[in-house]
Amino acid sequence: MAEYEVVESDILIIGAGGAGMRAALAALSNGANAVIISKSVLGKAHTVMAEGGIAASVGNVDSKDNWQVHFSDTMVEGVYLSNWRMAELLAKEAPERVFELERFGAIFDRTKEGKIMQRAFGGHTYRRLCHVGDKTGLEIIRTLEDQIIHKNVKVMDEIYITKLFKDGDSFSGALGLSMREGKFYLFKAKALIISTGGCGRVFKITSNSWESTGDGLGLAYKIGVELQDMEMIQFHPTGMVYPPGVAGLLVTEGVRGEGGILTNTKGERFMLRYSPEKKELDARDVVARSIYYEIQAGRGTEHGGVYLDISQKGADFIKKKLPGMYSQFKEFAGVDITKEKMEVGPTVHYQMGGIKVEAETGATNIKGVFSAGEVASGLHGANRLGGNSLADILVFGKRTGEAASKYVKNAKPGKVKDADVASAINEVKAFIKSGGKNPNVLIEQLREKMSSNVGIMRNEKDLQDALETIESIKSQFKDVGVSGQFVYNKGLLACLELGNMLIATEAIVRSAIMRKESRGAHTRSDYPKKSKEWLKNIICSISADGSMSLSTVPLKEMPVELKKLVKPEVYQ
Ligand code: FUM
Repeated sequence: MAEYEVVESDILIIGAGGAGMRAALAALSNGANAVIISKSVLGKAHTVMAEGGIAASVGNVDSKDNWQVHFSDTMVEGVYLSNWRMAELLAKEAPERVFELERFGAIFDRTKEGKIMQRAFGGHTYRRLCHVGDKTGLEIIRTLEDQIIHKNVKVMDEIYITKLFKDGDSFSGALGLSMREGKFYLFKAKALIISTGGCGRVFKITSNSWESTGDGLGLAYKIGVELQDMEMIQFHPTGMVYPPGVAGLLVTEGVRGEGGILTNTKGERFMLRYSPEKKELDARDVVARSIYYEIQAGRGTEHGGVYLDISQKGADFIKKKLPGMYSQFKEFAGVDITKEKMEVGPTVHYQMGGIKVEAETGATNIKGVFSAGEVASGLHGANRLGGNSLADILVFGKRTGEAASKYVKNAKPGKVKDADVASAINEVKAFIKSGGKNPNVLIEQLREKMSSNVGIMRNEKDLQDALETIESIKSQFKDVGVSGQFVYNKGLLACLELGNMLIATEAIVRSAIMRKESRGAHTRSDYPKKSKEWLKNIICSISADGSMSLSTVPLKEMPVELKKLVKPEVYQ
């Protein structure tokens, strides 16, 4: 008797955040049937951690805004590593995706004239972030979830995908373990969309919640999908630093967008020194580095942060514009932000790198495999602008869902061999044993090392040391194991996640060693300048012997009409 249940669909979508849900809706409208798999539960996605708004040049507050300026901001702040076609598509299509979201039922904050309200955010020339207080991501998830439920899209949650299968060189299926039921499912589909979000949990201090362990990266890499620019990890300048239980939790950029000021323990508004024009609203890499320098210079707080103050705006304003921040600090830190300063510091928030995709379609180098959202790379280059991630999931979620639907119309279902399924099930079962190494101990070691050695400021010695730790944990991985059975076995989940975390960290560190320059979020004290030589993407892929191989690909030349839109002096 088969040990698993088979579920068939045209398209399998792994990941139920904004990108996955938007892709499923696009599949539905294009006549393809999709099944969404969530490791967590529907509605619980990192999308909610984009709190301050969605970037779209609708020009409601600053009428001069348009797609051309949004495109230019995205390219300049991505330090020219972004895929220009993706940046162009994002800038052109984000407004329509926002209006569509309204038609789906999202309720944005309003201007006096009744238009969608927009606020300032770092690196955006104009006030561009359409928002819902400081809960924009949550409202987007709520709205998409509503559509998914009412349109009867099949969602299967609390399922962890352990393996992807190929028939020849095309995707054919995936094995999943239902953590709720303790049973296996074989998902057969003609196309796969990977929308699993990021890998922030490979670091100790992060805004990411437990789901973001780089599962999509690991699964894809193992079947030959190429990863790109994995060294580009975004440190959001402001996460909570105290109390320890909430260290890393996001403090939205909306606080600075609404006038919040950063100071050190000497009371100096230090951003005046690092970025006299843009100050607190410079791009995230600049603000995070400035905070890092202040702390290194001994002007940080006792908990290793700096201060962020919005109290000058008054209680009514703060409670209306930033209600989430008000209750977050009140409940978790006992701080009343209408009267007191917040203590904040950089926190790992986002991966700019990830699965290499085609700009228009989200297709990867493996037939039938598509990807969208944070796990996919290209759009954000070396530094993502706040609010561009929410625009990204809608613009490219839709495009990828459409492209996958088109693909399945002409594709034949692939085969998954019984023997391959049996062996994949045995790989999971092998983690249940007595006397196994505790996976959580290894995960903690990995996270500690990533935060201490692969942070805002990097150098060859620290990166090589991190690589040694990763190699040592890799060699111990075969010995990890836990007791118990399959139902809600958190230890077993940790074993499975660790495998993917090791792939993600190895790719991050090897790519960071390779990129011998400083660009955007990747700052090397031993190579402090950016270099024309490095206008290249770094690609990681699996070799025939299972080792990770790295190569570089020069960026495609930007068309002249787009080049004209961006500041030439920065283009090097
Ligand atoms: O600060 C924030 O609200 C985060 C937004 C984003 O990452 O896009």
